[in-house]
Amino acid sequence: MAESILETEGLTKEFLGFVAVGDVSLKVRRGSIHGLIGPNGAGKTTCFNLLTKFLPPSRGSIRFDGRDITKMKPAEVARLGLVRSFQISAVFPHLTVLENVRVALQRARGGSFDFWRSDAVLRGYDARARELLEDVGLSQYAHLPAGQLPYGRKRALEIATTLALDPVMMLLDEPTAGMTAEDVDRIVALVKRVAQGRTVLMVEHNLKVVEGLCDTITVLTRGKVLAEGPYAEVSRNPQVIAAYLGTDPTISGGAGHG
Ligand SMILES: Nc1ncnc2c1ncn2[C@@H]1O[C@H](COP(=O)(O)OP(=O)(O)OP(=O)(O)O)[C@@H](O)[C@H]1O
Ligand SMILES: [Mg+2]
Repeated sequence: MAESILETEGLTKEFLGFVAVGDVSLKVRRGSIHGLIGPNGAGKTTCFNLLTKFLPPSRGSIRFDGRDITKMKPAEVARLGLVRSFQISAVFPHLTVLENVRVALQRARGGSFDFWRSDAVLRGYDARARELLEDVGLSQYAHLPAGQLPYGRKRALEIATTLALDPVMMLLDEPTAGMTAEDVDRIVALVKRVAQGRTVLMVEHNLKVVEGLCDTITVLTRGKVLAEGPYAEVSRNPQVIAAYLGTDPTISGGAGHG
């Protein structure tokens, strides 16, 4: 098996001449937790949109697990196991936490919502859904309407619905955004756990989280790769420090405390 599971070459996305992602060549090692960091507007989310095929690239290529996926559709890429965490808006607020995971499983396996499936099939989904809730620490909330979950727990539910697709590689866009310190710790532990036997690529602004989780990081600024390597090395890079200080003091503040 190739050492890198995901590889881009010269990946570029222009919006009406504005280069949001410019000539990015990224290599993500199989089994690693890889951080994608950079100031606001650096092109991180656009990168994710390119990788999961929500946006077509202007130039460049993407290989996943030995295949060229540059021209594939989002659903095909997801079927190959490259899955992005759903936004919270994809959680059905009136369904219970358990039902949300069950729906995700049904969607992953059947591709439809045929509710006339046999009881045995539905019980099978239920058993797996309960396992997934256990994995993400939501068992005690199984029967609560998802809309009533505290914010941090909603992110855990989002991760459970992503796991329902049995991803080979997960993309997480700011999994700890807007969380209390306690929730952040829980999500860090959760990402560590779900990363077992998988590859994770995550965008994260909290550098303490990045330091604690990521094996390798890539720093993007203005659409370009500024630096890449282990956190300890990259965080000492003067250009990286300048990029953060120059644009977003809150981030460098976070690094200072981390
Ligand atoms: N659909 C679009 N049309 C035009 N410009 C866009 C579009 N999507 C993103 N951009 C621009 O591309 C740049 C990169 O945006 P992107 O959302 O990828 O940044 P980001 O690194 O995820 O930032 P943040 O940390 O704030 O989430 C920004 O200047 C943004 O305004
Ligand atoms: Mg973003």
